[in-house]
Amino acid sequence: MPSMGRNRSAQWLQTWFLLVFPRTCSTALLYSTYQFDPLEHLGGVAPYFESQDPPASPSAPQGCTPVRTAYLSRHAAIYANDYDYEEYIEPFISKLENLTSIDWSKVPTLNFLSSWTAPITEAEQELLTRVGRVEAAQLGATLSFRYPNLRLPTHVWTSSAERTYKSAQSLVRGLETDDDGIRVVSIYESEKAGANSLTPYKSCPAYSPSAGSDQQSVYLEKFTAPIIARLNVLAPEFNFTSNDVYGMMELCGYESVIRGSSPFCDLDLFSSDDWLGWEYTADIQYHYNVGYGNAVSGFVGLPWLNATASLLLGEKSDEDMYVSFTHRELPPMVVVAMGLFNDSASHILPFLGNLAVERLDCKGTYGYDDGDYYRVLVNSAPQPLPDCADGPGTSCSRSGFERYIQDRVGMFQGFSEKCGVDYDNSTDVLSIYTDLDLAYARFPAVTLTGYGVDLLLQKGITLN
Ligand SMILES: *[C@@H]1O[C@H](CO)[C@@H](O)[C@H](O)[C@H]1NC(C)=O
Ligand SMILES: *[C@@H]1O[C@H](CO)[C@@H](O)[C@H](O)[C@H]1NC(C)=O
Ligand SMILES: *[C@@H]1O[C@H](CO)[C@@H](O)[C@H](O)[C@H]1NC(C)=O
Ligand SMILES: *[C@@H]1O[C@H](CO)[C@@H](O)[C@H](O)[C@H]1NC(C)=O
Ligand SMILES: *[C@@H]1O[C@H](CO)[C@@H](O)[C@H](O)[C@H]1NC(C)=O
Repeated sequence: MPSMGRNRSAQWLQTWFLLVFPRTCSTALLYSTYQFDPLEHLGGVAPYFESQDPPASPSAPQGCTPVRTAYLSRHAAIYANDYDYEEYIEPFISKLENLTSIDWSKVPTLNFLSSWTAPITEAEQELLTRVGRVEAAQLGATLSFRYPNLRLPTHVWTSSAERTYKSAQSLVRGLETDDDGIRVVSIYESEKAGANSLTPYKSCPAYSPSAGSDQQSVYLEKFTAPIIARLNVLAPEFNFTSNDVYGMMELCGYESVIRGSSPFCDLDLFSSDDWLGWEYTADIQYHYNVGYGNAVSGFVGLPWLNATASLLLGEKSDEDMYVSFTHRELPPMVVVAMGLFNDSASHILPFLGNLAVERLDCKGTYGYDDGDYYRVLVNSAPQPLPDCADGPGTSCSRSGFERYIQDRVGMFQGFSEKCGVDYDNSTDVLSIYTDLDLAYARFPAVTLTGYGVDLLLQKGITLN
C-alpha cells in the first residue's frame, strides 16, 4: 500500500493483527498462561520493578490526601557491584577468553557465546548505567504525579558515592519542571559517623559486609550441581563451576541494564527452577546480612525510621517531600526496624528499590475520624504496619503511629552500644534532615574535586 501514510499503514497493520490474532487472552483457557521473567527473580541485580505485592493501589485511600512524605531509595542500576564482578563475573569472562579452543557455535543453548562480548570493563564497575539514570529520573516524575499538591523539595539527600549521588541528580532532573534549584546534599560515607549518615552500617563495627556468605554458599552448591552437570555435558572443556553459573545468571541482570537485553536470561539456558534457586541463594545471603537474620539490622535501620517519623509527625517541616539515596544495605535494615516482611527480603531490593512513609490528611472517609493518618509504601505497594492498621486502607492513625514508633524505638534504640563502636564521638540519632549546616561542615575538604562541588559553591566556597 505505497499510497498510505506511515500512520495509516500502522493503523491498518494493527487492525489486521487484531483480526488475525483476536485478543490472546481469550484463548487463555485453552493454553497454559504460565509466564516467568527471570528479571523479577534476581534480588539485588534486578532492574527496577514493582512487584505490587499485595496488589493494593498506591493511590491514597478515598478522602485522604498526602501532605508530607519521605522516601529512602537504593541507587539506580549500575554496571556491576565490585564484589559480584570480582567474585563471579570477571573469573567467568576471563575463563571464556582463555579457552579459545571451544567452538561455542556448535553448543546448544550456549551458541551465542561464539560472538558474545563482555558488557562490563573493570573501569565501569560501580558506575550508574544509562538505564539507571533514566529510571531514577522516572522515579522523580512518578513522585510529581503521585504528589501533585506537595511543594517540590529544596534538598535531596544522598550518601556520597558516585552511584548514589548521580541517582539523586537524575531524580532531581525528573522532578523539577525547570531549573528549580533543588540542591543535592552529599552525606559523607564515614566510618565514624555513628547513626548520623545514610550509610550507618559503615560506622557499625558489629556489621560485617560478608555476613551470610557461608550460609549462601551451602545453597549455591546445591542448586548449581544439576546445572553444572548439564552444562558440562554440553561443553566439557569449560569445566563449569558454581561460581561460573552464579555469574552467568547475574549477567542476565547486569547485561540487561547495560544493553537492554541479555542472552543469559533465556529460559532454554536456565529454567524457572534454576532462577528460583538463584533467588533463594541471594535471599539467604540478604537474610543473614541485612535482614532479620542479623542481630544488628534493626538497630542500624531504626535511626532513619525514628528521624523520619519525627519529620512526618511534626507540626511544621522544612520539606513536604524528603528523598534520600543510599546503598542496598539500608532499606532492608529499615524494613526490619519497621517489622515488615518478617521473612525474607527478595522483592524489596531491585536497583532503585525504595520505601516511603506518607502522612495523609483524611476528611469524610466513611467510618473513620477526620485527621492525620500514616502509611508505608514499598516499591509503590502499600504495606500494612504490624499492629498499626486502624485507618483507611493500610493506614494507621496518628496516635497508633506514635505508639508503634515508640514500640520500635524500645526494641532497637542503642545503635552505638549494639554496634560496639570503637570511636568516642558516636551518636545514636540521625539529624541530617534538620541540621543542614552539620551536613555541609562534615563534608571533608579532601574531596573538593568530587561531588561536593555544588555544595561548597552554595556555601560561598570557591574552587581555584
Ligand atoms: C586466563 O589466562 C590468564 C593469563 O594466562 C591468567 O592470568 C588467568 O588466571 C586465566 N584465567 C582463568 C580464569 O583461568
Ligand atoms: C567523629 O569524628 C570523625 C573524625 O573527626 C568525623 O568524621 C565523624 O563525623 C564524627 N562523628 C560524629 C557522629 O560526629
Ligand atoms: C574443574 O574445576 C574444579 C573446581 O575449580 C577443579 O577442582 C578441577 O580440577 C577442574 N577439572 C578439570 C578437568 O579441569
Ligand atoms: C519477627 O516475627 C517474630 C515472630 O512473630 C517476632 O517474634 C519478632 O519479634 C519479629 N521481629 C521483628 C524485628 O519485628
Ligand atoms: C528519635 O527522635 C526523637 C525526636 O527527633 C529524638 O529526640 C530521639 O533522640 C530519637 N531517638 C532515637 C533512638 O533515634
